[in-house]
Amino acid sequence: MSGHYDVDAVRKEFPAAERITYLDSGFQTPLARPVKAAIDRFLSEGLEIAGPKSVWLDRVEQTREKLARFLGASADEIAFTKNTSESMNIAANALPLRAGDKVLMIHGDHPNNAYAFLNLRRKGVTVAFVPMTEIVNADSLRPYIDANTRAISMSQVTFHAGHRFDVESIGALCEEKGLYFVVDVMQAIGVVPIDAKAMRATFIGSGSHKGLLVPQGLGLLYWDKSRAELEPAYLAAASLADVPADLIANPDKLDPAPSARRFELGNFNLPAIHALGASLDMIDALGVENIQNHCFDLGDHLIARLDALDVRLVGPRARQHRAPHIYVIALPAAEWLGHFEENGVRVSPERDGIRVSFGMFNTIADVDRLIEIIRRRGVKPSSRAA
Ligand SMILES: Cc1ncc(COP(=O)(O)O)c(C=O)c1O
Repeated sequence: MSGHYDVDAVRKEFPAAERITYLDSGFQTPLARPVKAAIDRFLSEGLEIAGPKSVWLDRVEQTREKLARFLGASADEIAFTKNTSESMNIAANALPLRAGDKVLMIHGDHPNNAYAFLNLRRKGVTVAFVPMTEIVNADSLRPYIDANTRAISMSQVTFHAGHRFDVESIGALCEEKGLYFVVDVMQAIGVVPIDAKAMRATFIGSGSHKGLLVPQGLGLLYWDKSRAELEPAYLAAASLADVPADLIANPDKLDPAPSARRFELGNFNLPAIHALGASLDMIDALGVENIQNHCFDLGDHLIARLDALDVRLVGPRARQHRAPHIYVIALPAAEWLGHFEENGVRVSPERDGIRVSFGMFNTIADVDRLIEIIRRRGVKPSSRAA
């Protein structure tokens, strides 16, 4: 048990977590049985009865509704995409930015977000990078806003050291200054509760292969529908307000859909969207706040045990500034990654060490196993806390 839910029961849904000590959900979560069952069902239906597509599309809309509730939005504010990068590019190209306009981003934040905006330099848009400090909030960004600033784009949680930026205060700053606000929630979603309205985001983008538990190839985009002036850079029949009944393209009717479907192109990744429906049910059954608190408890335990070994944690320590589930340990990845692998522990190499990232199925015993492997091998002085 954890103090928040029956973690042993949850763990049984993730067979991979029984075979290896899986501490790498920030990279990709193992498949859960209910998620696999949703994909299996799609495959069987295709194999045995070739559809029916209308049932498959109904499930897409049911998942859209669930996702909207999960983000505190309405279903007509949600589009399905391919991944975070596509969502960020859709957002960057929908903003009415012109030569001389400036976008603020955080230095060292995820490159997939940065490149979407750096590509706008072709239009003469400037991107300025604000230093990444342990705490990033409205006060960190305010000094960088000038008369040319039009937008801020950043992650909610950083992938490489688990910073959790104060996106609510930055959203309020954007509202005050009349700026667009684009947020990449890829590392946060499924673990950190997200309220699109409290964030005052214009767009929120994510993939779904981490906290949302679905294999790669499905993304999402939230669009604040009060921003009706934001139009898609690409167009397909599905993006239109009126799809011609005879399916002959009508050059005089190009108005985009009033909903976020304006940002969707063509057919969907059906098995992945069905899988997402199942994973959202799993997350809702536990409660995302409980998943967050469970991961925070694991993180507190990890930090205490690293302190006892005198091994340094790279990112923020305080709960209000750190992600619940992402921790980087100052152990040189080149020396340690293979050692963890040999001992059946899956973690990721990161800029400043070894990244440990938790999922809903991890336990205190997983943390203790990791620590025991570090303790047995011993650490060099460079990894010791200052
Ligand atoms: C913050 C963040 N954004 C985006 C991505 C991935 O981008 P995409 O979904 O386009 O592969 C990752 C990691 O995979 C990430 O950590």
